[in-house]
Amino acid sequence: MKILVIGSGAREHAIVKALHGDARVTALYALPGNAGMAEAVCLPGDLMDNAAVVRQALAQRIDFCVVTPDDPLANGLVDALEEAGIACFGPTRAAAQIEASKVFAKEMMNKYGIPTAGFAVAHNFEEGMQALRGMPCPVVVKADGLTKGKGVLIAQTQAEAEDALRSVFCDKAFGEAGSRAVIEEFLTGPEVSVLVLTDGEALVPMPSAMDHKRALDGDLGLNTGGMGAIAPNPCYTADMAKRCMEEIFVPTVRAMAAEGTSFRGCLFFGLMLTPQGPKVLEYNARFGDPEIQVVFTLLQNSPLDAFLHCRNGGLQADDLRFDTGSACCVVLASGGYPGAFKSGFAIAQQPHDGTVYYAGVRREGGQLVTAGGRVLSVCAAGATLQEAVDAAYRAAGHIHFDGAHMRTDIGQRALRGEGMA
Ligand code: AMP
Ligand code: GLY
Repeated sequence: MKILVIGSGAREHAIVKALHGDARVTALYALPGNAGMAEAVCLPGDLMDNAAVVRQALAQRIDFCVVTPDDPLANGLVDALEEAGIACFGPTRAAAQIEASKVFAKEMMNKYGIPTAGFAVAHNFEEGMQALRGMPCPVVVKADGLTKGKGVLIAQTQAEAEDALRSVFCDKAFGEAGSRAVIEEFLTGPEVSVLVLTDGEALVPMPSAMDHKRALDGDLGLNTGGMGAIAPNPCYTADMAKRCMEEIFVPTVRAMAAEGTSFRGCLFFGLMLTPQGPKVLEYNARFGDPEIQVVFTLLQNSPLDAFLHCRNGGLQADDLRFDTGSACCVVLASGGYPGAFKSGFAIAQQPHDGTVYYAGVRREGGQLVTAGGRVLSVCAAGATLQEAVDAAYRAAGHIHFDGAHMRTDIGQRALRGEGMA
């Protein structure tokens, strides 16, 4: 079977590595991939050009394509590939709306009684101001569409909320993604990421995870694409998992089917465990980054059957087998990220026991050099969270490039038991 993975991040490298070595996989491609993906042949191309991706896939006689980046999903890449006869892991454009439109997601949750923050939808500045009148501060203003994680503005005061609305509707800070906004109640509690595979009927949750989104230790600094993660998330007890399955995961998959937008692929639930119970902060229509790097560090078998069953039906719990221990992922970023940074620094490594998933890298001569904000993810497993954290940092200590920045406290909040019931 010839498989193509769409994307170029550490998330896609984790998928490539997990599929590599499955005897059924006769060829493994990534488009566009990156120079660190030694297990795959990289195909050049623009992943937002559906026709070009289809042409490449047909030329390489691809049997199965794994699509996980948000923009191509929202752009209908799965629909285009399927129309051309290429089976895909990933939701259709219509189903990917669950991530690509916060208004769609919130209205669906409202209609089907899925717990989430109270909200109002605004189509313009005046409607936004009207909605604000009924809501206490802090309040959350979210642009409707895909914004690379930048479209969520938490306002402490009414004046800040007005500024947020102005930046969405008047300054058009998020372009078309900000043609509508959701104004939402501010929730508190520990956050949990749960990635659930589904074929549209059956659901198979993977181990829970905790992302670390801020750039600096102590959850300070700017929001990033994710500086590290741990799995499983100790806040997410077995009781909580059962409750989320019944109150959130199953109702969401049923709601999507009832709306005529049956979801097949990976549904990512960004949850907040509030004093009133678990609530949905956001859905993603795909694997999370860095969640999948850390979750797949615990994976013991090839995910191919699970991927195929998500597409064809028949997904079963034993399609994926996970270690019972813990895993930790530490992201090495370019100094200055998520602001301006320099690239082109050689990446040196001494032998270590971690698993490295590459993201922002390219090859110069025979040497891998930095070529992006988040350069690589280094992951390790252990019998306990402490062992996993220690192992990941031991491995990270053997990887060097000029200006490298990492957080030194991935997993510390969980180890201190913060947010535990
Ligand atoms: P999102 O992209 O919707 O996950 O939002 C990004 C981050 O903003 C989340 O991980 C939360 O930390 C925070 N956030 C989003 N919505 C809310 C809310 N209703 N209450 C409190 N924090 C929120
Ligand atoms: N870690 C959250 C995301 O992938 O968007």
